[in-house]
Amino acid sequence: MSKTTKATPPAQASELAGAFELFVEASQALELQYAALSRKVEDLSADLVQANDRLNVLLNALPAAVVLIENDKISHFNQAANALIPGMQTGAVWSTPANWKPGHGPDEFHLSASSGVRTLQAQRVQEGLRSVIQIQDITANLRTLEDSERVDRLAAMGKMSAGIAHQLRTPLSTALLYASHLCSPGLETQDRVNFAQKLQNQLIHLEKMAGEMLQFVRARPQKTQIIALDELVREAMQTLEGLRLAKNIHIQADLQATDCMVSVERPSVVSALVAILENAIQCSSSGQTVQVQTSADHLRGQMTIEDNGPGIAEDMLPRLFEPFATNRVTGTGLGLAIAQNAIRSHRGEIHAQNKAEGGALFTVALPSMANL
Ligand SMILES: Nc1ncnc2c1ncn2[C@@H]1O[C@H](COP(=O)(O)OP(=O)(O)O)[C@@H](O)[C@H]1O
Ligand SMILES: [Mg+2]
Repeated sequence: MSKTTKATPPAQASELAGAFELFVEASQALELQYAALSRKVEDLSADLVQANDRLNVLLNALPAAVVLIENDKISHFNQAANALIPGMQTGAVWSTPANWKPGHGPDEFHLSASSGVRTLQAQRVQEGLRSVIQIQDITANLRTLEDSERVDRLAAMGKMSAGIAHQLRTPLSTALLYASHLCSPGLETQDRVNFAQKLQNQLIHLEKMAGEMLQFVRARPQKTQIIALDELVREAMQTLEGLRLAKNIHIQADLQATDCMVSVERPSVVSALVAILENAIQCSSSGQTVQVQTSADHLRGQMTIEDNGPGIAEDMLPRLFEPFATNRVTGTGLGLAIAQNAIRSHRGEIHAQNKAEGGALFTVALPSMANL
């Protein structure tokens, strides 16, 4: 068996040697570049560690609790956040702590603590896949606000005392008059029934006024619940069904605040809506229509009530929400004052205006529930 070896021609051999040299040079250059890159990575990693340290120092220096979230997972949090949410872990998926109960502000939560119920305000700022949640304990601020609101209301009540005396005196003296008639001897049964009826009407009016005055000075809502805004509006309309039928008024409802949840003290907000709707029905003539609409964006839910009545009297407009402002014989002038208190105590707003085409338009806005 013969073995043949082919000798490489001299020209090809020198080409190969040249290529090999090039290869060696290229790999040396690559090695150098790789070493430089490794150093760069090391430097950058060191920078990152420093930046992380600085970020932690900065986060811990903040008085508010801060949680950084990347891809829905907790990436950083400061000491204040740890104190507020013990057991929080980096890398864990963020979710609102189970013991946080929704408060009645847009971003508020209630938390039961040994010192009593605390109110937290939590705001989430989203930027791409990252977000920052900032949490502040606003219990003390709220208490101050509450105190000052209460002082304001009591001062208003003080200023109103002359007004109150005046408000009470007329129905009271009328009631006394009917009572003295009832005492007169030899009164016909029919007259006696008549006076008793009138006396009862005056007492009912006085009782209503006393009840409304108490409602006016009441503190901010305590027992809140989460409920759809449209549900509150439906309840208010249901409450006034009797009056609506008796006055032959149509209500055209267009409830579009689907999914708008509010955290409110149900009875106080429903009474506020009832007060506005009741006025609209009272001011409308038989056969007229009252329009009720709701709408919502991501911050708040809004309700409008429009009627086609005579509109708000010019002299009534500037003092519409003041207690005892009324031009109705049987009115107390407390309906809208209480409604304004109730809506404002839920951080909401209430407005009234006359429409160009006639009739009044009332708008109520309430902050909707936070989505953390
Ligand atoms: N929809 C309305 N159209 C015209 N006037 C209104 C309307 N709503 C309220 N008002 C005016 O505002 C006043 C105050 O209303 P309110 O506070 O509810 O007290 P009351 O109903 O006891 O008079 C009313 O007396 C009326 O003059
Ligand atoms: Mg009224």
